[in-house]
Formats: sequence, C-alpha cells, structure tokens
Amino acid sequence: MFRIEEFQTAAELEAMESTIRRACDAAVRDPYAQFLFIDRYTRWNGYAGALVAKLSGNIGESQDLFLDANEPDRAQAVRGMDVAGHVLDATVDEHLDKGHRVPHRTLAQAMRKAAADYAGLSIDDRNALSEPQPVWLKDVVARTFRYYGSFPHDAEALIRSIGTHIASESMADREYSIIDRVFRAERHYEGFYQYLRDRDFRVELGGKLVHAYAWITIHATFESQGVEAEHLAEAMKALELAARYRPESRERILELAREGYRHFADIQRDFFLHAASECDAAADSRQQAA
Ligand SMILES: [Fe+2]
Ligand SMILES: [Fe+2]
Repeated sequence: MFRIEEFQTAAELEAMESTIRRACDAAVRDPYAQFLFIDRYTRWNGYAGALVAKLSGNIGESQDLFLDANEPDRAQAVRGMDVAGHVLDATVDEHLDKGHRVPHRTLAQAMRKAAADYAGLSIDDRNALSEPQPVWLKDVVARTFRYYGSFPHDAEALIRSIGTHIASESMADREYSIIDRVFRAERHYEGFYQYLRDRDFRVELGGKLVHAYAWITIHATFESQGVEAEHLAEAMKALELAARYRPESRERILELAREGYRHFADIQRDFFLHAASECDAAADSRQQAA
C-alpha cells in the first residue's frame, strides 16, 4: 500500500501546520480580518467538491486506461469506475450533506454571512471585499483548476491529479482542525464563536435557518478527525487501484502522484501565506485608525 508519509515528511507537515496557524492567528485579530479570511477560504474551498467530481468523471470516462491485466476479454477488463468510485466518495456529501441536507457550499455560505454580520459589514462592503477577487486569490484558484480536475484519456495527468486530490484531502484535515482550534477551542466564550452562540449558531439563508459553524466541524475538529480523514483513506485506495490497473511500475505511479501532490502543496502554502498578510494588513490598519 502507498502511505501518506511517502508524500510528505514530518518536517514539511510541521511547516504546513504553522503556515495555517499563522493565517488563523491573523484572522482572529479583528472581525474584519476574520471575514476576509472566511471569504477567501470559502471561495477557494468552494471549488473542491466540483473538481473532485470532475476528476472522478475523467477517470471513469477513461475506459481505455485502467485495465485488469489478468482479464483477457478486453471489455471485461475495464476498471476505470473502480478507481473513480474511491475519488467520488469524497464529494457525495459535498453536493448534498446527508445530515444537513444541503451542499457543503451552503454551510460555507452560512458561515461567511455570519462572519460578515459579526464584522458589521453592509451589503456594499461585502460585495466590494469579495469582487473583484484579489489577484493572489485568482492565481490560487486558477492553479487549483489546472491541477485538480485533470483530463480524460491521459494516464499521467490523471495519476498526477489523484496525487493533487490526496494532497487536498490530507491538508484539509489539518486546515479545518487548526481553524477549529483557533476559532472555537481557544476562543470558546469570546469573539466570533461567542457571537454565534448568542444567535444559537444559526443564520438565515434563503428563508431557512442554517448552522453557521457546522461547515468547520463536519470536516474535522481540533480534537477529532472528521470526514477529511475518510476522504484521504479513499483517495489512497484510488491510487492503489490506479497502480494495479496501469502498466507503469509502482515507482513511476508514485512519482507522478507526488508531482500532483507537490503542485497542490505549493498552492495551499501560497493561499495561507497571502491570507495571513491580508488579514494582518487589515488588522494593522484598523488598529491605527482606532
Ligand atoms: Fe466539504
Ligand atoms: Fe474532503
């Protein structure tokens, strides 16, 4: 079996966690900074579900690529959907969460709306802060598009993107966990979390009351693993099956997947570095103005 340790060293993991932590610490300096962080994170993250579905579809469509070498009847040998299923698994709830009965995007929007209310932003403020997106965020999103969804009938591109998917799932687990630590565990009776508690954690969205913090805790919490850990286990199975049904050596499969992993690790690092500077700049300027 491929192992996640083959993709990332302990030192790299530690560096990633401290970059996420820096951005979260900058976010909680000020309600305005916290809105910026949540706006940027929900925007970037909001594409993941669709891109996972796209990758899964592109693998499934590639009936020419993933074949069982032990099956001489060619039509009986097609295994693309076996690989694809382990990718798709990560995005079923993303489209319609079994517990909340809404897409995860809706839960993210509930959190963004609550953060905007908490910061006292008018509708004009909200729109002006979100659109146009900052250039750095556009770049992060464009690079995510390039590496995640992949291309059908291109084995190397698909294996690389499975690596990107592995990166995204393993990093998401750390991201949500650290966000939850900084937003909730360390500020249980203050700031944004207390603001949410005062409103029973609900925000009005399209005529419904939606939980405004569940988006974080369904994915991972500071003290326990959520769905991201399961998604990662499934993503590793997808790579395992891809290796079984491809003629390349395991070394070559790992090499390709690691390339895709690397691309995403760079994108993720850039996201949190930029988010940290943006939040710090916002908090600094508001402190000076006060
Ligand atoms: Fe999600
Ligand atoms: Fe996930």
